Amino acid sequence: MPRATSHYVCQACGARTRQFFGRCAGCGGWNTLVEQQEAVADSRRRRPAAPAEAGGARRSEPIQAVGERPLQRLASGYAELDRVLGGGLVPGSLVLLGGDPGIGKSTLLLQSARSMAARVPVLYVSAEESAQQVKLRWRRLAERDGAEAEDPGDGEGGPGLRLLAETDLELVLQELESLRPAVAVIDSIQALHDAELGSAPGSVSQVRDCAAALARIAKRQDTALLLVGHVTKEGMLAGPKVLEHLVDAVLTFEGDRFASHRLLRAVKNRFGATHELGVFEMRDRGLAEVSNPSELFLGGDGPSPGSGVIVACEGTRPLVVELQALVSPTSYASPRRTATGIAANRLHQILAVLEKHLGLPLSRFDCYLAVAGGLEVEEPAADLGVAAAVVASHRDLTLPAGTVLVGELGLGGQLRPVGQLELRLQEAARLGFVRAVVPKGSGLGPIAAGLGLELREAASVAEALVAALGTDPAGGGD
Ligand code: TYD
Ligand code: MG
Repeated sequence: MPRATSHYVCQACGARTRQFFGRCAGCGGWNTLVEQQEAVADSRRRRPAAPAEAGGARRSEPIQAVGERPLQRLASGYAELDRVLGGGLVPGSLVLLGGDPGIGKSTLLLQSARSMAARVPVLYVSAEESAQQVKLRWRRLAERDGAEAEDPGDGEGGPGLRLLAETDLELVLQELESLRPAVAVIDSIQALHDAELGSAPGSVSQVRDCAAALARIAKRQDTALLLVGHVTKEGMLAGPKVLEHLVDAVLTFEGDRFASHRLLRAVKNRFGATHELGVFEMRDRGLAEVSNPSELFLGGDGPSPGSGVIVACEGTRPLVVELQALVSPTSYASPRRTATGIAANRLHQILAVLEKHLGLPLSRFDCYLAVAGGLEVEEPAADLGVAAAVVASHRDLTLPAGTVLVGELGLGGQLRPVGQLELRLQEAARLGFVRAVVPKGSGLGPIAAGLGLELREAASVAEALVAALGTDPAGGGD
């Protein structure tokens, strides 16, 4: 009989100690240590050895001798999801999908499970909702496709979708072993629990143990696993780093509670690029793909005083986005600065550059800045657009229609080059823009001309604003 010992495990970073501390020595988090009973004898006992190990000791081999298997990717049924995965789901891979509660993780995975089930066997494990609830959602999604709604055996022509509502890890593993599906969805990893571990479901050791057991079986039988993971109050994936190391890809699903669009990003991907962006819209019958997201992030009512249009890049995906600024005299001792969608520090820095190099008395003005459509723009390439929107609002000017602005501002007032400019220009031209103000020395003049874009290059923010507004931004103001 193994003797049970007690440990304290940090719920944020997974560090273990024998003694209780108010503050974790690993990550410095307060009140994150939770006592857990663990049997001393290892919990590996019931996992069968992998076939390779059973066949005798493995030896190293020259890298030239290693057989190559082409990556056979499985289309998820949604181009936006495939793009973020790097071109489809890789057999035997583990993908973790994180996001706030209610954002649409279960909906996304049930939809793509439905679509994949027409081609390969898929198992959907629901550890949070009952089979009835999943069935209701499934029916709601099916109604989208009209005729299929009448057909209760959807996917019967193909291998089909099987549903298991279960929280016990052991039973889930057994089902995976007996069915050997090509794809399995586990919704969610935090709700699964291993009865052999004393700790509560959702605790770090449970999450790690369940994920490791699932990973072993997935690699062994080439099942692609899609795991749903919850985000904690602090915005971290619960049981965070332990899971991120274990899986092949980490996707996050985010969005605004007040807007219907949802953004899917890869923060880690062993089989593709990170920072790719997929855009969906939540409708009453599930998630619809948005293949032309720039239209979503453009204000729509044309230029107005204080608005500027930039081309941001998310991974390899250019997005034309409208920024809006409101600059008005302050009645406070220190002026208010509020930024939605870009970092507040970035706004402060740009305001300081404008004040210093253009002589604008912005410290006597409140300044509000917002990115249309609720997008977060982290890139410094948005700087010039922010500066132009602020100056336009301050001087009550309207930027000429059809102009996009791209460039990073240096502290000395210079305009710095940005990456992927050609891609950005192509997207602007595609959406009917006719003029682009960009940093000097891009060398893209002929390409822009070919796209029907007038390229205006500038070395400094002052030059760029003259090029954009057609008037001296510093002149004539107060
Ligand atoms: P859900 O997928 O359950 O979120 P998660 O698994 O991330 O917690 O999504 C729940 C929300 O989505 C809920 O507020 C209802 C909404 N929804 C729709 O608007 N349309 C739909 O067709 C479905 C299925 C859900
Ligand atoms: Mg859910």
